[in-house]
Amino acid sequence: MIKIAPSILAADNLNLQSEVIEVVKAGADYIHIDVMDGHYVNNISFGPTIVKNLREITKKTLDVHLMISPVKEHIDSFLDAGSDIISFHPEADKNSELIYEKIKNSDCKCGIAIHPNVNINEIKKFLIYADIVIVMTVIPGFGGQKFMEDQLIKITELSNIKKRNKYNFEIEIDGGINKQTAKLCINAGANILVAGSYIFNESKKNYKKLIDSLK
Ligand code: DX5
Ligand code: ZN
Repeated sequence: MIKIAPSILAADNLNLQSEVIEVVKAGADYIHIDVMDGHYVNNISFGPTIVKNLREITKKTLDVHLMISPVKEHIDSFLDAGSDIISFHPEADKNSELIYEKIKNSDCKCGIAIHPNVNINEIKKFLIYADIVIVMTVIPGFGGQKFMEDQLIKITELSNIKKRNKYNFEIEIDGGINKQTAKLCINAGANILVAGSYIFNESKKNYKKLIDSLK
């Protein structure tokens, strides 16, 4: 089954509550929350308070994508806020194993996010821990960028590693997803698609049609 994770980075943030309620009604599987610190990436977005606020209005899976460095000291606040999945970029902190342990001990899923400049080989050792692997198909930091086709090979590679080792992780793609690129990712082996501008920036705001068009 293909799951769609609308990214609230592109939502109307003055009306975040209704935006989230509407995409959930329209069939969103996860709500993707991009956390940016102005250090690991060149932009600043949300913190744990947004996760906590969203937790109060929805039972949907809150898929938190940390684009921050360091990571370890912030994990507790995202766990306490009610995250269902926390993904981080392993090169952003020396303590990947500890971070993984902290997340898993709290009954939260743990994701490994792969920056376009990072090769699968560099993160291979973390795959055994991962519930989710995010393949970034844009340089992290901003929504609305063009899909990087040269990252598709990583999806195929991950899919093969998963089969070969009987790993359980799901493969999530983040960046530049639209009707066309969604197909490429699904064919390569992805099963979760993050979509920000494709869903929220469409003037007709027919969220159900947009979400269905990605599956
Ligand atoms: C980029 C973020 C993405 C972003 C996707 O750094 O991680 O989740 O919101 O936005 P679109 O779908 O517009 O590329
Ligand atoms: Zn993201």
